[in-house]
Amino acid sequence: HLIDSAYEAEDFFPALGECGKWLHFTASPIRNSGGEIIGAIETLQDITEEKQLQENMRFYIQLITKAQEDERRRIARELHDDVASSLLLLIQRLDAIASSTPRLSTSLKNKLEDIYSHATAALENLQRSAQDLRPRIIDDLGLVAALEWMAENLTKDYGIVTRVEVIGVERGLPDEVQLLLFRIAQEALTNIRRHAEASRAWITLEFGEKKAVLIIKDNGKGFEMPQGMGGLASAGKLGLAGMQERTQLIGGSLRIQSEAGKGTTITIEVPI
Ligand SMILES: Nc1ncnc2c1ncn2[C@@H]1O[C@H](COP(=O)(O)OP(=O)(O)OP(=O)(O)O)[C@@H](O)[C@H]1O
Ligand SMILES: [Mg+2]
Repeated sequence: HLIDSAYEAEDFFPALGECGKWLHFTASPIRNSGGEIIGAIETLQDITEEKQLQENMRFYIQLITKAQEDERRRIARELHDDVASSLLLLIQRLDAIASSTPRLSTSLKNKLEDIYSHATAALENLQRSAQDLRPRIIDDLGLVAALEWMAENLTKDYGIVTRVEVIGVERGLPDEVQLLLFRIAQEALTNIRRHAEASRAWITLEFGEKKAVLIIKDNGKGFEMPQGMGGLASAGKLGLAGMQERTQLIGGSLRIQSEAGKGTTITIEVPI
């Protein structure tokens, strides 16, 4: 909140000190009673340490996020390769018993069918969890296809009609940007499914010259945004706070607009 005609800037000066310095500069005008500028108050602050702290912090958060994604990928693979294939084998054996035993009593047949349907449901749940942990589709086909896949699931499984629109020319984004946008969309859609009571949702991905913009919108009941994310996070609600953190991690910005009865819109802008 600068006063009228005040000035503020920060820059890196490589020639200062041993390895350069970050300086923050402000100038505020001094006016006479006629409103004419007759001088200025200037400040110059060395913010090198602060900048370095920020850089280190971002570096660590990046490492953590990457480790988290690696771990998710590993668990997803294990679920898929080990647990899912064992379940599949179990289902096939049940099937074989049912079809190769000629005189099964009705009660035994019913029991087998019951076990069979439980095993199939477990397999479906497992596959869904594995996909959520690490959607292969994002590695194989990219962000737009992954968003379309999520939209289809929301439409098919939960009856919330969801459309994806791409504006501008689609192009490959850096891995971490792609994953970030995917994770945010995933959380936003989970929120829509769990809280919004919406009948429709829209996902828009815009490829600009220097930025990508992702918008996720629903026509649900909306909610009142708390002042800061801290309150939500300390109440164990980590969805929106996590979105915020992930976005900051890659230098983007996040905006949440919501109003009772008017739905919710989440907008993420990231530089590319
Ligand atoms: N699309 C939405 N429509 C209506 N309410 C929403 C929507 N998204 C979020 N909310 C509200 O904001 C709150 C915070 O959301 P957030 O994702 O941070 O936490 P959560 O979904 O409750 O828990 P978590 O995501 O940690 O499992 C929700 O509890 C819900 O009340
Ligand atoms: Mg949530």
